[in-house]
Amino acid sequence: MCGIVGYLGRKEAFSILIEALKKLEYRGYDSAGVAIWNRGKIEIIRQKGKVDDLKKLASNKDIKGTMGIAHTRWATHGIPSERNAHPHRAGEVVVVHNGIIENYVELKQRLRNEGRRFSSDTDTEVIPHLINSYVEKGHNFVDAVRLAICELKGSYALGIIKEKERVMIAAKKESPLIIGVVDGESIIASDIPAILDITNKVIFLEDNDIAIFNEEGFRIIDTMGNAVERKIHTINWTSAMAQKGGYKHFMLKEIFEQPVAITNTLTGRVKEDKGEIELDNLKLPNLEKIKKIWMVACGTSYHACLIGKYIFESNLRIPVEVDIASEFRYRDPIIGKDNMLILVSQSGETADTIAAMKEGKKRDSFVLSICNVLGSTLARDADGVVFTHAGPEIGVASTKAFTTQITVLFMLMLFMAKKMGIFTTGQLKEKIGELRRIPHKIQEVLNNAKHIEEIARKYMTYKDFLYIGRGINYPSVMEGALKLKEISYIHAEAYAAGEMKHGPIALIDENFPVVVLSPYDITYQKTCSNIEEVLARRGKVLLFTDTSGHEMVERVESVFVMPKTIYELEPIISAIPLQLLAYYIANLLGTDVDQPRNLAKSVTVE
Ligand code: AGP
Repeated sequence: MCGIVGYLGRKEAFSILIEALKKLEYRGYDSAGVAIWNRGKIEIIRQKGKVDDLKKLASNKDIKGTMGIAHTRWATHGIPSERNAHPHRAGEVVVVHNGIIENYVELKQRLRNEGRRFSSDTDTEVIPHLINSYVEKGHNFVDAVRLAICELKGSYALGIIKEKERVMIAAKKESPLIIGVVDGESIIASDIPAILDITNKVIFLEDNDIAIFNEEGFRIIDTMGNAVERKIHTINWTSAMAQKGGYKHFMLKEIFEQPVAITNTLTGRVKEDKGEIELDNLKLPNLEKIKKIWMVACGTSYHACLIGKYIFESNLRIPVEVDIASEFRYRDPIIGKDNMLILVSQSGETADTIAAMKEGKKRDSFVLSICNVLGSTLARDADGVVFTHAGPEIGVASTKAFTTQITVLFMLMLFMAKKMGIFTTGQLKEKIGELRRIPHKIQEVLNNAKHIEEIARKYMTYKDFLYIGRGINYPSVMEGALKLKEISYIHAEAYAAGEMKHGPIALIDENFPVVVLSPYDITYQKTCSNIEEVLARRGKVLLFTDTSGHEMVERVESVFVMPKTIYELEPIISAIPLQLLAYYIANLLGTDVDQPRNLAKSVTVE
């Protein structure tokens, strides 16, 4: 997804912007560009490809200047190319943009009728033209921006500069944009890692905010021109935390961070001695009146919701309906004030999940978000929020976000169960105790990572994989298969183990490895029968079981043994070897693990 940065200060802007852009590479992009202001003139360089390619291109030019804006583009309108890369210019005005302008066709037509010429296929290009049209009509720069954005429909985070004036303007609606607060310098960015080398003091701009930067500092106004105040937050992530920290890829680092990420998610919230959970002063509606809970999300976060359904229904006995965010509102969901809507998202900026939140609010449901990113839209606009505290997740493939989401869902279930008087204090203490042991159990799996690397080496050349599991292990294998396909580009399909004989079994032969997830739980014996069915067809089985699951160990080709835990927490433990299997296969195949082709970390378009 696009990333924008901007700088105004005393230092050379180019290198600052390039470094900041590199920290946004995790968002996924296909082209990059930068505009530097120097003594009233603006020079733009941009091209298809990586930020390093842009740096190389710039090395032949003498780019000097202490103010500029820069961009990484993920194509939505117009193919990835130099002409579609940002920044875009019209007259004196130069713009970088993240988001989508929904009414760009009509705006473009109107601007064309005024004789303005367009040079790209993007929706973005209407923005500099519109601002420039107001400048030409005699409006000052700030008013021109303000009037122009009042005409935009859709989403935008904007960085804007103009020739002749040493002023930078940022504006935001439905796409993330932050200000790094530093003395004597101004920096804007789409996300925190881009500014952490410079400052940990951050303002999260809100929808319809316009920030104006000059030598003296900055001020924020709304679209009517009224001054607005925004709080400064201190971010505790160090720049090093957002870097690879010695691992080959962010994804591997993030897999190994899971014991710490889960510990951080539990810290200050679980009171084992009292059998209590405290969740950041979360105020829930009267639970007696909640007839149904909805859990809505995308991708990996959707898989966390499917696991959440098992956790909630088996303990709270409240029906839970899980939906994919991009489907939810199109089926006119039966949701109202006696329902609770739980939205799960690492980024808190996924467009479809935000749209689902709006739908829930419109229909008077209590909306609770589970997010990892402080200040994100879902965190700000929900009626309640519980953060996952996983730390920055840079790899496009979600790992520690997933396991901390399940952790929060489990804590939330305990929190609600306590309110509903479902468990005795002894039962609560027991469940909290097991939750607290999870980071150690994950560490045990991580200590055996080499064994999974050996398994990966054995199977890396296969072209298709089937993943099967039953009960709570079914969403876990869906997640395992998603991990493999998104980073290794190998076809992987997940099935409920009992469904295999209703179709997919026809595919089984010696060239079709089957990953079976079967800890020794209520589903174990039945899954053993499915393993027999695969073996009878000369299929290769990679079995992931736990220390009690002995039955099939001698019969299958490869086995990985996980520590034992209670049923509801099995998905946290089993996520780790499945993530590692996908990682090692992708690494052995040499794919771009952290930025897989065609994927974006944060999907901010619907
Ligand atoms: C999974 O590895 C992907 N990165 C993707 O499915 C992701 O989980 C999805 O896009 C949702 O993102 P969110 O959690 O930030 O809302």
